[in-house]
Amino acid sequence: MIAKYNAKISGTGHYVPDKIVNNFDLEKIVDTTDEWIRTRTGMFERHHASSDQASSDMAYEAAAKALDAAGIRAKDLGMIIVATVSGDHPFPSTACILQKRFGVKGFPAFDVSAGCTGWIYAANIAKQYIENDIAEHILVVGVELLSKLINWDDRSTNVLFGDGAGATVISRSEPKDISRFIDSELSADGSHYDLLMQPAGGSRTPASKESVEKNLHTVYMEGNKIFKHAVKSMYHVCDLVLKRNHLDVKSIDWLITHQANLRIIEALGKKLKIDQDKVIVNIEKYANTSSATIPIALDECIRNSKIRHGDIVLMASFGAGLTSGSLLMRL
Ligand code: ACO
Repeated sequence: MIAKYNAKISGTGHYVPDKIVNNFDLEKIVDTTDEWIRTRTGMFERHHASSDQASSDMAYEAAAKALDAAGIRAKDLGMIIVATVSGDHPFPSTACILQKRFGVKGFPAFDVSAGCTGWIYAANIAKQYIENDIAEHILVVGVELLSKLINWDDRSTNVLFGDGAGATVISRSEPKDISRFIDSELSADGSHYDLLMQPAGGSRTPASKESVEKNLHTVYMEGNKIFKHAVKSMYHVCDLVLKRNHLDVKSIDWLITHQANLRIIEALGKKLKIDQDKVIVNIEKYANTSSATIPIALDECIRNSKIRHGDIVLMASFGAGLTSGSLLMRL
């Protein structure tokens, strides 16, 4: 069936908390060095939320900017989707809390849990609703506040994450419009679900005195095992959408990948044979903000006019699950 409408990004925004923690600050509290973090990951700074901030607070700031950029008001939305693994509460969804913050109701609002691939999953869901003419404008936010879920005794994870939110308004693209989603591919390999998780706090291991004492409510990650899957899985989903649309990599203006490790970003660029100048990197400023990395990078590049209306952008991510996904669009 040929869809009546297509979907496009009509507005973007991002928010990061004021507090900046750089590698030298971490050297004072963790058994690590600036040299190790820089050479192994490409990270230098990350932003940490204040004790009274929650994910919905960051999502609200980013979303307000995205609505403004799209030239619409919250009452014009037909849906809110928040991609997060660090929402305000296990339930209800952070999307419903965001709906309340905007003072609107009467349309669906829900969260998507797909780790760092969350924003790509959520954008793909939004695309289906737009194409089926069920909504005209959908707010899709990637937000994470992982600094509160870090195990400060585990240096292999505690230096990697930053807090932030990236928001996008995904709207109907009329046939005459050049901006549109071209294609998307989502995947997951649940056989590796236990490589990256928050072990306790759910129905498998409910919160208890013991779970708190053992630090089971914090991020557990087998980083080097995930590393091996990252490039392979992102390459696979990128290659699929390029081939399916008969596109040579030379026709891609920009590649925005999940910002988890500079070595992973560069290795993917090389494997795709894309000019490294077209690969967007901001990991040194924000570290890994999980589901927020791609919408933050997209908003930054639009606001500083690096990425312009009409550019072809390929996005790719991987994360907890293990999930992976790509999204190809003309901005
Ligand atoms: N400072 C100093 N040394 C450290 C640190 C640190 N912060 N962390 C680990 N090390 C040491 C280890 O103890 C180890 O020492 P040893 O050789 O004496 O045993 C050594 O560094 C190498 O450790 P590795 O884990 O093998 O290091 P690696 O080169 O793999 O880098 C990293 C680790 C950065 C985590 C990398 O594996 C990575 O980026 N993995 C992918 C992570 C990821 O992308 N996750 C998915 C997205 S996140 C999400 O979905 C929420």
